[in-house]
Amino acid sequence: MAGPRRPWPAAALVPLGHRASPLVALTAVFYDPMMTTPDSARGRYGETLAEGLLESPAAERNKEPILDAIRSRLPDTGVVLEIASGTGQHVVHFARALPVLIWQPTDADDDLRAAATERIRAAGLSNVRAPLRLDVLAPDWPPTEADAIVCINMIHIAPWSATKRLMDGASRLMRPGSPLFLYGPYKRGGRHTAPSNEAFDESLRARNPDWGVRDLDEVERCAEKHGFSLVDVVAMPANNLTVIFERMG
Ligand SMILES: C[S@@+](CC[C@H](N)C(=O)[O-])C[C@H]1O[C@@H](n2cnc3c(N)ncnc32)[C@H](O)[C@@H]1O
Repeated sequence: MAGPRRPWPAAALVPLGHRASPLVALTAVFYDPMMTTPDSARGRYGETLAEGLLESPAAERNKEPILDAIRSRLPDTGVVLEIASGTGQHVVHFARALPVLIWQPTDADDDLRAAATERIRAAGLSNVRAPLRLDVLAPDWPPTEADAIVCINMIHIAPWSATKRLMDGASRLMRPGSPLFLYGPYKRGGRHTAPSNEAFDESLRARNPDWGVRDLDEVERCAEKHGFSLVDVVAMPANNLTVIFERMG
């Protein structure tokens, strides 16, 4: 099955090595991190090119706060599966900080997986596995273990069925007591928590009517149906939340 549609120019994803090159300079001008230009002129999720690697400015900002929010609930050992790794910035950051854990990045998008592979190679980390192709909507997920699952900024940039399939797949992989971490913007009690989230929701729906900021109560109900209980909600910068579920016995 093909991954999500790729609207950025293929040239922007040519492996570029780690040093800025004339090609980088050329392709960088096609990127608009504010996501205000036509689809064909920027990274799908607002990525830019930095030092020859595809980079999400948002991931640069949120990787440390997310690590702070999840680290005390991660297992001491084992495999942490990341769903929708994107450019691989989080997995590299987390793996560097927590070298005892094995990190398994995944994504549905071939180009983003290639970008993550490049970043992981550049980081030279031995505790990050090669990114796997995992589309949460696909009936079969690739074989992998998961002592914990992390999914950052995906469920609002995918149809609601992706949340259901994420919970379904996670419930099949995880043992009782294992944590599932979601990060992103959420409505609470059916209402937006900030004007910026409301504007973001509108922009998502304008791009794809099936996308949109999810309501935490609905996500919790979905999680419960799939055998997860909500154990913590951590307020994060920029009106985001880290939501922590645990696989029930
Ligand atoms: C906004 S990006 C976030 C990427 C990364 N987690 C981050 O925060 O920088 C959304 C990600 O969700 C992934 N995605 C969208 N639909 C997906 C699906 N059905 N299964 C798996 N990943 C999906 C995209 O390929 C992309 O990597």
